[in-house]
Amino acid sequence: MGVGTESWVVMATARSPTNIAVIKYWGKRDESLILPINDSISVTLDPDHLCTTTTVAASPAFDSDRMWLNGKEISLSGGRFQACLREIRKRAHDVTDEKKGLRISKEDWQNIHVHIASYNNFPTAAGLASSAAGFACLVFSLAKLMNVSEEYGALSAIARQGSGSACRSLYGGFVKWVMGNDSSGSDSIAVQLVNEAHWSDLVILIAVVSSRQKETSSTTGMRESVETSPLLHHRSKVVVPSRIVQMEEAIRSRDFASFASLTCADSNQFHAVCLDTSPPIFYMNDTSHRIISCIERWNKLKGTPQVAYTFDAGPNAVMIAPNRKTATDLLCRMLYYFPPSPDTELSSYILGDKTILQEAGLKSMGDVEALPPPPEMADKLTSRVSGEVSYFICTKPGQGPVLLADENESLLHPQTGLPK
Ligand code: DP6
Repeated sequence: MGVGTESWVVMATARSPTNIAVIKYWGKRDESLILPINDSISVTLDPDHLCTTTTVAASPAFDSDRMWLNGKEISLSGGRFQACLREIRKRAHDVTDEKKGLRISKEDWQNIHVHIASYNNFPTAAGLASSAAGFACLVFSLAKLMNVSEEYGALSAIARQGSGSACRSLYGGFVKWVMGNDSSGSDSIAVQLVNEAHWSDLVILIAVVSSRQKETSSTTGMRESVETSPLLHHRSKVVVPSRIVQMEEAIRSRDFASFASLTCADSNQFHAVCLDTSPPIFYMNDTSHRIISCIERWNKLKGTPQVAYTFDAGPNAVMIAPNRKTATDLLCRMLYYFPPSPDTELSSYILGDKTILQEAGLKSMGDVEALPPPPEMADKLTSRVSGEVSYFICTKPGQGPVLLADENESLLHPQTGLPK
């Protein structure tokens, strides 16, 4: 049975993670295909705490492609959505649905419209790489629906055309986006370096920093850096190639000291490139700078890196600890410097894996108030100001996209293909 006047609906639902780069992507050599000027490496974050869920539906009864994000209809007319839809349709294969007695051919897929509903389990406005999880999930779920093969990183090359960093969200663990050489972009793909089990001791603490200012988008920021920053050209040609080799080695051998110093240095150089851009771009704010100082001071006191930090195109800090013990020390420090306001419940200030609170011996606000100043602050007067951090999320390295088989998890109605 091909496409006719029938009113069947076929659907697929998937969940995809977000990722944080430890060697940053900043700068394109091709704006429309989204080809970068250097390789980058990221860690995928546990989708239990930060993910996008997407349902895609196809039906001959739909008269246009439509999309809803967090319940609100959004336009699909942008070039990036269109590129992902076009590239997926191009690679569609025959699909047989025995339960529905359907056979949808490769050719049929070219004319069937899709409905897409997407939902983030974290605030879209928090600046936590929602476009990476979003485009990875869109491409992964459409590929499952239309039976597109995943061979040779093909899906990552499609997700890349939605948003560069999205290509790295197609795999779990540590992932490298190889910049490639070909002008078609076919070799600019993501590859998994190690899966999430390889370095499962790592604990990731994200400080969602309060910010009033509307930031320059990554897309605009990196274009301006490519056009005006001499430091960016030195970085992409000289610094990143050798850092990538060292970072891969640090990850393979679970060498935390080397991993942490490379991660911090790369984040700091990325923000130096932003300052070197004309006019300069400021993504970090005073709170971000205070977080860096307190980690640097702690690392210096211990003589070896305790925790790594990295910041993307916004003020939020992503901190990576080598194990649970150091993560509890980090949490106590963060709560000492950035306590919740008195009317905030501790359990709504620490999101994600809340068991870290018990492990740190913090049951109530009284415990937070009683935290002693960290030893590296002994000779300094420190203020404890609430309100600078909106909340923390405790998470860990996680897996790549998965298909959700349970119909209850679908975001679209199985008969109408409209949002539930
Ligand atoms: C600072 O992937 O958001 O997060 O490709 O234009 O969509 P576009 O940019 P995007 O840039 C991410 C930049 C970064 C670093 C990184 O994730 O590697």
